[in-house]
Order: sequence, then C-alpha cells, then structure tokens
Amino acid sequence: MRSSTTAPRRALGRCLTKRAELTRSVSLLFAFLLGPWGQALTAQEEMYAARRRALMDSMDGGMAVLYANTTGNGFNKNFFYLTGSKEPGAALVLAPGAEVEEAFFNQAGQWDYADGVASAKAFPSDLLTRSLSNLTRERPTAYVSFRDLEALLGAGRALSSLSDLKNIDATISEMRVLKDEFELELLRQACQITAEGLNEAYRAAEPGIMEKDLADVLESAFHDRGSPGSSFLQAASGPNATNVHFGATERVLEDGDIIVFDVGAWWNDYTADISRTIPANGRFSQEQREIYTVVLNSQKAAIEAMLPGASVDAVREVAQNVLIDGLHELGLVLDPKDPAQRRFFIAHGYYHFIGLDIHDVWSEYGRMSGEKVYRPGMVMTMEPGLYFPPDHLDQTLARLGSREEDESTRQFLETIRPVYRKYVNIGVRIEDDVLITVDGNEVLTSAVPKEIDEIEAMMKR
Ligand code: GLY
Ligand code: MN
Repeated sequence: MRSSTTAPRRALGRCLTKRAELTRSVSLLFAFLLGPWGQALTAQEEMYAARRRALMDSMDGGMAVLYANTTGNGFNKNFFYLTGSKEPGAALVLAPGAEVEEAFFNQAGQWDYADGVASAKAFPSDLLTRSLSNLTRERPTAYVSFRDLEALLGAGRALSSLSDLKNIDATISEMRVLKDEFELELLRQACQITAEGLNEAYRAAEPGIMEKDLADVLESAFHDRGSPGSSFLQAASGPNATNVHFGATERVLEDGDIIVFDVGAWWNDYTADISRTIPANGRFSQEQREIYTVVLNSQKAAIEAMLPGASVDAVREVAQNVLIDGLHELGLVLDPKDPAQRRFFIAHGYYHFIGLDIHDVWSEYGRMSGEKVYRPGMVMTMEPGLYFPPDHLDQTLARLGSREEDESTRQFLETIRPVYRKYVNIGVRIEDDVLITVDGNEVLTSAVPKEIDEIEAMMKR
C-alpha cells in the first residue's frame, strides 16, 4: 500500500499537503484515496492532515514546534492527535505558507505505517535544529506547548532569533473537544466493547464470587474483542459501592449487596466510560430501588437536556435538582434549597469529555474562554450518583462547628438519621457517554441496560 522508498514519499507529501486542503472533510473511514504516484493516503491520514491544517489556519503566521515527548507508556496526546505518532524523539514543525508546510522529524527520517503523517515531509531528527534555525529567521513567532519547554531549551541557539513564544496547548485542546469522524468511529467501538463487557458482567454477577472475578470478566471480554484492556475499572460491592472511586478487591459478593461498575475499554487509544449499578442477587431491594430510581430519573432528565446550545452548567443543575427533589420525597432532604443539605448528598461532578483520556482535555476545559455550551461533536459523560457510606452522617456531624448554620445542619442530620439508616451501604451511579449532534444527542452506550426491569430480567437465573 505504501512505497518503501523515501524520495517518492517526500514528493507525495508535498503534493498531498495541497490535496489535503481540498479534501478536508472525510466521510469514508478507511477508504483509500490515490495520490498522483499511485500511493495511497488513507482517510485516517487525511483526518490527521485536516487537524494539522486546522491548527495552521488558527496560527497568525509564524511556526509551530511540537515534540512527541514519549516516556515509558505515556505519550503526548496532543502530538498524537496531530500525527498519530508516539515515537520517542519525534517532532513536528508546521510553517503555514512555507514551501514545506508540515515537517515531521524522527530517527529514521520517514513516517511509520501506523502514523498519520503521510502528508507531511519526513526528515531525520538530526536536521531539526538546523531547520528551526533557518525557519526562525523568517518566522520570529513560534507556537509551542509549554510542556515542551525543556526540549525547546535543548534546541538552544537554533531558536535565538525568536521574538515571540505562543502557547498552542489551548488551541489543540479546543480542537480535541469536538470529535471528528475518525475519533467518533473509535469512540463508538470503545463504547460498544465496554457495553458488551458489562453485559457479560451482569450475567456473571452473583453472591459468592469476588469483585475481582467481575473485573476479570470485564478484562477478558475486552481482550476477546481486541481491546488492550480497561482505562479504568471499578467493581465495588456492598460498603465498597459507597466510594466514589474504587477498584475491585477480593471481597466476596453477598446476598443483598449492590454493585457499582465504572469501566472503560480502550480501543485504539480512545476510551469509553460507563457506570452501572446492579443488585448482586439479581433483584433490587425496596431501598435500592428507591435510590436507583432517583439517580436514573436524574440521569435521564439531564441527558434529555444535553442539546446543542444548552448551557453545561444549566444541565448540571437539572441533574442535581432531580437528585435533590427525589431525596426530598424520600425524606432524606428536608429543605431542597438549603445548600448544606444539598452538599451532604452531592459527592462528585456529573460529566467530563471522553477521548484520548478518560477525562479528556478536562483540566484545560475549565480554562478555555467562551461560553460553556454543548456543541455538536462533543462526547460527554452524564453520571449522577448517590452514596450512603455508614459513617458519612457522623463524620459530617463531627466536622460541624458552632456557627448558626452548623446548628441547623446538625438538626437536619439528626432528623434524617433514622431514614438515612435504611439506605446505608447503598451506592448508585449511572453513567453514559453522550454524543451531541446537530439536532440533539445520541447515547453511545445504550447497549447496557439501565432500567430496573431490564437489569432484573437479564440477571434472572
Ligand atoms: N470513570 C471515572 C470517572 O469518571 O471519574
Ligand atoms: Mn466518568
């Protein structure tokens, strides 16, 4: 499929840079587009080229210098996003408008079959310093990742003509927030594999087996489907289910336990993230059913509100209000408007992006400018949860001081104590991965049952 000599590839690279501009939107995944020498540029490579093009279009001249910075198992997700390469020591230089707009540097001076840089010209790494030195004379502005400062310092005098450094991370993160078709295909697959694993875990769950056995069922299901495994895996039972984040231990499942799964399978470096809650014995108790229903209602209402243009904060309020109103009906919240009563039950946030990381570009998202609204192409989780650890009430009481509001919180906690006791050791989290579309949304993880009847029917034995 790909020529083995470098020269035609380089020529191809020059030509394809132009062609990539013409064919930025790629709809046929894994289809092949023939280059002028008969060599093929896959739709995947077109997609990487389109990302680099979009980045160059966002630059105000100058050049961009990015390093792979691969260490051990870790790799630079932004570099990978632009190149498909995890090769240690690789670098990418973008110079919009230059004769060679995209230059990829690595040890061999050629791209690998697995990489997505076929439209970039490849050079050996030892030419990087000289190239930078030449480029900086004409392009005194460099767009860099500030995570690469060490590598940039290594370039030393080659960069001495620079007069301006700009941080490129936020721009790449903003691009990564909106998934392209190539990423969506990978995420769909990650979601499907995770969903199938959870279906197997539902069937395997029963009193007498260990949490770790359930983890093994999930990992095996992922491996059987070609995934390298999980990005995150929780199978928490009984009191363990009241932890927000947990793993899977040797605890043996007991009759009456609830199990909170939270798991994502990797698929080609993309991960899903699904949480589900099931009864170990296949039937929810009355109390479990009550809490489960509140969480499910919250999750469904929030997903319904995850529409293009809707405020992300407003949807969090939807999720939270349904939780609090449900707790109010159960007698666990006395005043739904009281901040301390709300805080007592809200254990974690409700959403994050998924993608190359399970909490994809999440730390950057908070810093991004602009209104936080849902936009088509975002893939976000929705994951409300309620937890009743045995000691939560007393620990909260112990932390209270002597202010007036502490006194009212103390009264609240003492009033709900008998009701709270009924729900001790229940933990419920329900999490789906939701793609925002032009006219609504699509739940990518709907292949895992979450209605009580469906779960019980599946676990009937
Ligand atoms: N799946 C772990 C989390 O979302 O925090
Ligand atoms: Mn999550």
